[in-house]
Amino acid sequence: MIGIIGALGEEVDLVCHRLKQTQSLTKAGIVFCRGKLEDLEVTVVKCGVGKVNAAICTQILADVFQCEKILFGGVAGALFPGLKQGDVVISSHAVQFDIDLTAFGRRQGELADHDRLIEADPYMVQAASAAFDEQVKGMQTPPEMVVGTIVSGDRFISDPDTIRWLQREFSGVCTEMEGGALGYTCKINQIPFVIIRIISDSAGKDAVGEFDSFLSKSSEMLADLISGTIRFLKVQ
Ligand code: ADE
Repeated sequence: MIGIIGALGEEVDLVCHRLKQTQSLTKAGIVFCRGKLEDLEVTVVKCGVGKVNAAICTQILADVFQCEKILFGGVAGALFPGLKQGDVVISSHAVQFDIDLTAFGRRQGELADHDRLIEADPYMVQAASAAFDEQVKGMQTPPEMVVGTIVSGDRFISDPDTIRWLQREFSGVCTEMEGGALGYTCKINQIPFVIIRIISDSAGKDAVGEFDSFLSKSSEMLADLISGTIRFLKVQ
């Protein structure tokens, strides 16, 4: 079983609609949709915004649905200079940027006994990259794709100073509000994961407007990237 998570309806509803032989189950007030995608058993869930929601859903996917791989799909704000709306980021690593035990001598984002950067599964990264390549084949002006560190915190970023800090402190490529918690939960449960994000905004002062106008446009590309990744995972 493969788990597929997104924070918002726009990020996962289309994936749910593509499932065959669907069944749904509600747990902790959250609807989990189970079925077949590309002939593989998957469970799709809209977790809601933020790290706590992402961690709860990831743990349920592990315990109740026995997922042996988890994939997160959604949008994100750009940190890396030059990334623009529609470009894609695939996680090499994820980090919770708002974990702050610096008073105890730890680095920002670091919890006791754990590296602050949590590594995504290289095979899933490869599958997601292959899905991207397949999707953009033949496009005249294809979007860019970067594999790199995704930084997560319970804050929507819309200011240049924070962008600079997140880029310099963590080598962050994009910022969002769930991936670090999903990565952490996967790590302690020993579940391979990957996060796929489409850039919705610049994380600067116009971020809210950019996000609002882009979100619904990302659904189809995300659903294609997720289906493509599942297809490449099948043949690995
Ligand atoms: N998700 C999409 N854009 C974001 C931003 N600028 N900050 C946090 N999460 C986001």
